[in-house]
Amino acid sequence: MSSKENAAVPAGIPPQETSGSDIVVSIEHVTKQYTSPGGGTFSALNDVSLQIRRGEFVAVTGASGSGKSTLMHILGGVDEPTSGSVRICGSDIYEMDDEALSAFRRREIGMVYQFFNLIPVLNVEENIAFPYLASEEKPDFPAINRMMRRLGLFDKRSNLPNRLSGGQQQRVAIGRAVIRKPSLILADEPTGNLDSANGEEVMHIFETLCRENNTTLVIVTHDASIAARADRVIRLADGAIVSDERGAKQG
Ligand SMILES: Nc1ncnc2c1ncn2[C@@H]1O[C@H](COP(=O)(O)OP(=O)(O)O)[C@@H](O)[C@H]1O
Ligand SMILES: [Mg+2]
Repeated sequence: MSSKENAAVPAGIPPQETSGSDIVVSIEHVTKQYTSPGGGTFSALNDVSLQIRRGEFVAVTGASGSGKSTLMHILGGVDEPTSGSVRICGSDIYEMDDEALSAFRRREIGMVYQFFNLIPVLNVEENIAFPYLASEEKPDFPAINRMMRRLGLFDKRSNLPNRLSGGQQQRVAIGRAVIRKPSLILADEPTGNLDSANGEEVMHIFETLCRENNTTLVIVTHDASIAARADRVIRLADGAIVSDERGAKQG
């Protein structure tokens, strides 16, 4: 923190209360290159800089191959960029060692995927409880019960994932991502494998839960109706941001 920023903070307010802490995602000059079999390099992301505030709902769009999933993996701490910095909640995540990064990801980042990625041998309740178990914490069972009711899954709580519809599986994945109130949730085409009615239902509860918790939500989507409800729409083409616009819904 610079002395200039400190000077703007009224006495008695700790530094984490400054507006800087409102930035959940801050990436600068991020490039991700892959080496082709011929030995040439190809940039899946090319010098991307981006900031996203706490509580923002951002839709990421763009043609297949434009770098959307690469961006999500880099934000999620699962794929290190070739160059550039990635700060999540102020921490440079690729400066951390593996153990610290794993713990940080469990606390601050939730992920939702197109193909649900539930743990097949765990039932609904156990999948939603999994983030606690992975952190060796006692699950908050009252919170898990409330979550299952809100997701319309209480009656299915003992079902394994293969005994659920696609929409139900995605609601479990959302419950798992949201249950410990991370700062950031990344969802890569979360409705891409659902019909439009199920996709709409899943998106409604997903957005509601994130807005209640003031969680930053970044969703890769081809669905215009999802982009229309986002606060902000970022479009990628050939590994670069080609537009970044406030949604119609909010200023
Ligand atoms: N592991 C990899 N090795 C080589 N090229 C990759 C790898 N992952 C992604 N790419 C390439 O990077 C580009 C962007 O991919 P991706 O981020 O998955 O795009 P999107 O999600 O927008 O469809 C694509 O051309 C893809 O083929
Ligand atoms: Mg993709």
